[in-house]
Amino acid sequence: MKISSTGGGLGAEVQNIDLRDLNEAAFGAIHQAWLDHLVLLFRGQQLTDSALIAFSRRFGELDLAPVQETGRRFVEGVPELYVVSNVLKDGEPIGSLGAGEAVWHTDMSYLPRPPKASMLYALEIPPVGGDTEFINMYAIYDALPDPLKRRLAGLRIKHDGTYNSGGYIRQGVTPTDDPRESPGAYHPLVCTHPETGRQMLYLGRRRNAYIEGLDVAASEALLDALWAYAERSEFTWRNRWRVGDLVLWDNRCTMHRRDAFDPASRRIMHRTQIKGSAMPAA
Ligand code: SIN
Repeated sequence: MKISSTGGGLGAEVQNIDLRDLNEAAFGAIHQAWLDHLVLLFRGQQLTDSALIAFSRRFGELDLAPVQETGRRFVEGVPELYVVSNVLKDGEPIGSLGAGEAVWHTDMSYLPRPPKASMLYALEIPPVGGDTEFINMYAIYDALPDPLKRRLAGLRIKHDGTYNSGGYIRQGVTPTDDPRESPGAYHPLVCTHPETGRQMLYLGRRRNAYIEGLDVAASEALLDALWAYAERSEFTWRNRWRVGDLVLWDNRCTMHRRDAFDPASRRIMHRTQIKGSAMPAA
């Protein structure tokens, strides 16, 4: 097994490994590389859904997938599997997020205990577009000026549960754009990673975010100041997908987004998410 940094703001590629056949030592090295590099890319994998789930379970118990935009769960009998796809079958999408841009977010952080990791496996990809970009939230916290860091101490942020990253309203939610009223979960704005002990900015997503205790205008101004750091390209890395790519990310100290692609082309990705715990304050 060979582990090489992407050379970007985070991420490494792991080569010469078949994820269906991992001994304990190889799994231990992958686990450590995931904590060190935040995002890992494994190319050329051949994973059935059960092999994807078996590899995912090595990191811990799985979360059930969020419900699809149509209200259905995706794959009969495999409730852990989240399908991200624009493909229609009998006029209904087989997955979520369509073909538009998916904005920066952390998976399922509108829950009190968001997943600690997610992995996405590429089954079909469009010829252009649909890249997924990741950003390093440790590096963003480190880059904040000290006076701004001091302002964040003890604050909590609400991560909105109204919209998914594709802008679709979640099943059963009455939409509101008032960030004080929208459903979601509060988390510390600066968290300590439970495994590495490092501090990170925990932003989740921009739409309907709200900083507890501030009036909406002050919350918006502080969020805008933080998001100005959270889109800096030196902290990012993007995957130009190939069929058979598996990308695993630490969902606590990264965010991700996806480029739009031609809706006439097909993209089918299968995702799992590994249960996490409440995010610890710094
Ligand atoms: C996701 O946000 O989990 C999916 C990202 C993608 O479609 O690349």
